[in-house]
Amino acid sequence: MCGIVGYIGKDNAKEILLKGLEKLEYRGYDSAGIALENADGVTVFKEKGRIADLRNIADDSDVDGTLGIGHTRWATHGVPNHENSHPHQSATKRFTLVHNGVIENYEELRDEYLADVKFLSETDTEVIIQLIEHFSNEGLSTEEAFTKVVELLHGSYALALLDEEDSDTIYVAKNKSPLLIGVGEDFNVVASDALAMLQVTNEYKEIHDHEIVIVKRDEVIIKDVDGNVQDRDTYIAEIDASDAEKGVYDHYMLKEIHEQPAVMRRIIQEYQDDQGNLKMDDAIIDDVAKADRIYIIAAGTSYHAGLVGKEFIEKWAGVPTEVHVASEFVYNTPLLSEKPLFIYISQSGETADSRAVLVEMKKRGHKSLTVTNVPGSTLSREADHTLLLHAGPEIAVASTKAYTAQIAVLSILSQIVAERHGKEATIDLLQELAKAANAMEAVVDDAEFMEQIATDYLETTRNAFFIGRTIDYNVSLEGALKLKEISYIQAEGFAGGELKHGTIALIEDNTPVIALATQENVNLSIRGNVKEVAARGAHTCIISMDGLNKAGDTYVIPQINELLTPLVSVVPLQLISYYAALHRGLDVDKPRNLAKSVTVE
Ligand code: F6R
Repeated sequence: MCGIVGYIGKDNAKEILLKGLEKLEYRGYDSAGIALENADGVTVFKEKGRIADLRNIADDSDVDGTLGIGHTRWATHGVPNHENSHPHQSATKRFTLVHNGVIENYEELRDEYLADVKFLSETDTEVIIQLIEHFSNEGLSTEEAFTKVVELLHGSYALALLDEEDSDTIYVAKNKSPLLIGVGEDFNVVASDALAMLQVTNEYKEIHDHEIVIVKRDEVIIKDVDGNVQDRDTYIAEIDASDAEKGVYDHYMLKEIHEQPAVMRRIIQEYQDDQGNLKMDDAIIDDVAKADRIYIIAAGTSYHAGLVGKEFIEKWAGVPTEVHVASEFVYNTPLLSEKPLFIYISQSGETADSRAVLVEMKKRGHKSLTVTNVPGSTLSREADHTLLLHAGPEIAVASTKAYTAQIAVLSILSQIVAERHGKEATIDLLQELAKAANAMEAVVDDAEFMEQIATDYLETTRNAFFIGRTIDYNVSLEGALKLKEISYIQAEGFAGGELKHGTIALIEDNTPVIALATQENVNLSIRGNVKEVAARGAHTCIISMDGLNKAGDTYVIPQINELLTPLVSVVPLQLISYYAALHRGLDVDKPRNLAKSVTVE
């Protein structure tokens, strides 16, 4: 949520900042801005809208610099407009700041220290920058003023500060919001995500919460809360820059849908030993196997993956499992079992709602496992254990390959825990996952057919329903979320048997109802539910599985293990949503009001 980038070196900072922001745009895209510092001072360019709009303004100007900071915003305090866009400046314009996060006590700080200051924006960020100037006016050095303000802040932040009187430093700090330093020869960079820095370096240094970092052209000084300088090794990030490009695809979402079979095969490799057996760190299995109940905590699509994961853990490993929406769990924690284990599922590893639960459950001494796509992310660093998705960067805001990767990794975990509990394996999971990868490939090859379904069912409709029973119901929730978030069609996922208890009142002539029928024990009953809505005029579409299909089904996925069907049955739903949004002329990769990494609660 919001992306930050900063550069200090010898090259043209403008281009590096703009390119960096383009890579961070998935984090927020309400408005964007950069500040460039040179011998004449600091110049700010900012604009409501996309990075392309900012580029137009910045490129029209001759102003340049070898030092600068940039920001792409997802609005929290104040509407997206020019005034609320970052960078923000202090009253004298000596200090310039970009900020990602939410300051909880900004009103108290404003009332206590800044009663006489006239604010130009509605943001919490402006309070931070005015406070820095306030303490600087009281005689503190910039580093002292920055440190003092950071100590006063409650909430989440990633900050990058320029001082017009010092063209050799960017001051940086973070708490709960991601921020990394990129290290180079005669230059250094800072950014919310390594992807923004890959253009100049793949060597990084981590920053820890509450540290103050002084970034110069030729050195990076990290200080802990007591001002002690910290030695921190760099590491090389193994990210392929081309993973973050669209390549031959029109949109990241389409590329990421197509990548799913390859991601499945990568997961099979990563979680397999030389003898072809399932492999996982013993310490993880020990902790999971000790639990008397598993609590899965997640949000959105990751929550939907958790619902499927519960099926594996209960059916294969025999461990009772609850799945909770993170934002609810933290304020309404249920009675816990005696030996709970928490699994946090998060593509980004940064979701504030999930982190809030992790922090609280850690305080209570409960063990944690994070399932994430981003090594080194906050939820990964703070949990006892991590399982990686190996899905490669997911750039489109609508999650696709992370969902199927989460399901695959949870299936592997469940089988290994089942083995540990001495349960006889009923399937060869690696072989079944390989079959699922092939089936996914067959479905993505039918993308044109899914486009036709989008045309036939969703071209003009205002609403749509997805129905299923048991595990198909879980997938229908995800299908509905995909459709609504990118096409803005009001879509809901329902348990097939539940419709008649109220929702069926919404069915009228031509209401699209997309039903999943991939489970043998409910095949007849879901088809009965389809008949009920068809009798009331619904335009019904049945996606079934080979072996359970009946004449007239709209699309039939290849036959795979019944519990693993979500890996494949979600793919037509992802493609149908993609084309429905595309046909409506919408920005598929960056739907309105959303951001990829949700770092506010
Ligand atoms: C929807 C989507 C979101 C995320 C949710 C959690 O397509 O991507 O619902 O799943 O914001 O994000 P992570 O998985 O990063 O914790």
